[in-house]
Amino acid sequence: MSLNYKGQNLFIENTSIKSIVRKNNTPFYLYSYKKIKDNFENFYNYFKKVSPLVCFSVKSNSNVSILTELRKLGSGADVVSEGELLKALRAKINPKKIVFSGVGKTDSELRLAIKKRVLLINVESESEALLINKISKKMNRVTSIGIRLNPNVDANTLSKISTGKLDSKFGLLSKNFLRFCKSSKNLKNIKINAISVHIGSQITSIAPYKRTLNAIRKIIKLSKTNFDYVDLGGGFGIQYKNKDKKIDIKNYSNLVQKFQKETNCKIIFEPGRYIVGNTGSLVSRIVFIKKNGKKYFIILDAGMNDFMRPALYNAKHEIVSVSKSKKRIAGNIEFVGPICESTDTFLKYKNFSFLKEGEYVAITNVGAYGSTLSSNYNTRPLASEIIIKKGKIKVIRKRQKISEII
Ligand SMILES: Cc1ncc(COP(=O)(O)O)c(C=O)c1O
Repeated sequence: MSLNYKGQNLFIENTSIKSIVRKNNTPFYLYSYKKIKDNFENFYNYFKKVSPLVCFSVKSNSNVSILTELRKLGSGADVVSEGELLKALRAKINPKKIVFSGVGKTDSELRLAIKKRVLLINVESESEALLINKISKKMNRVTSIGIRLNPNVDANTLSKISTGKLDSKFGLLSKNFLRFCKSSKNLKNIKINAISVHIGSQITSIAPYKRTLNAIRKIIKLSKTNFDYVDLGGGFGIQYKNKDKKIDIKNYSNLVQKFQKETNCKIIFEPGRYIVGNTGSLVSRIVFIKKNGKKYFIILDAGMNDFMRPALYNAKHEIVSVSKSKKRIAGNIEFVGPICESTDTFLKYKNFSFLKEGEYVAITNVGAYGSTLSSNYNTRPLASEIIIKKGKIKVIRKRQKISEII
């Protein structure tokens, strides 16, 4: 996580959260630039020997300032919609470092990607490839595509974020993949340049990655196609709690190195969570505290519209107080949001630092799939986003005005 205590007070790097809430209304997302940079560089360094192209997965965090910082660190982008593509371009990411994934790209999305000559459009169905060929023909272009393989590998992660199994909507199963490689030979306006995979998210074991590499080896051999790129997707898990299992990326990088030597393809990765997950917190004010029966409800000004992962995936994100008290409260304590849904709940504790109404807490490790999953549910405006860079507090997205959504 990007936060630490100095005495009883919570800090992000050397800036106290108290000093930030004094000038900024809650709830707001708060990121550490240093942590984003460290994560990106650590990730790259693991795979340095294969000189990969790292295409940050924009769906995990699409703030244009963050994308700009990542671009300066050398990142490309993995996008899944016209909006994400436009954000990546706004961040001045070179189209030759952009891959476009997704199962249901529309005509207009494909037209934009073709026009901008992105590095790869990762195709997920034969119909999509035919449509790209047709549009490219009209535009007098030959478009570079990847085909997403569904390797039928269980990523051993939450079923709701698993994408590489037989019954999932993603990619082409090997039989269809091979059939398409053959039949596409007469499609003159596309060029199959890559094989892509993405088997799921928050993966903490390298065994599924190993099985995926083997599935790709097999397909390369059977398809007798020369792929310039192999896009290995994202999915690298992070530690939400200290005791969570840590993925052994070093070991995986050895496997990738061996794979690259055999296949001679350029390697692409699409990490999202690994780069930004532990770099952000959601800072929130306690609106009310009430006791219902034996339970204390700590009602925050952040709700499931601001941060959806607990409601959507039952994800657990630790909560910390901005000013730690020496006193503790014991009993059934539940942090909830203000929204009219029982799923608008964040986390339960049996014991917590004593809290009062009007004080602040931070929900931790929300840098990935936090702000990007937020919504206007209950006609609530989107929260602001703030980054700390070299001791400076910078608002990188203003809080939405209610008038903008009415
Ligand atoms: C195609 C694709 N690539 C990359 C990612 C990023 O995954 P993660 O944030 O787990 O690295 C996703 C997320 O689900 C995805 O769908």
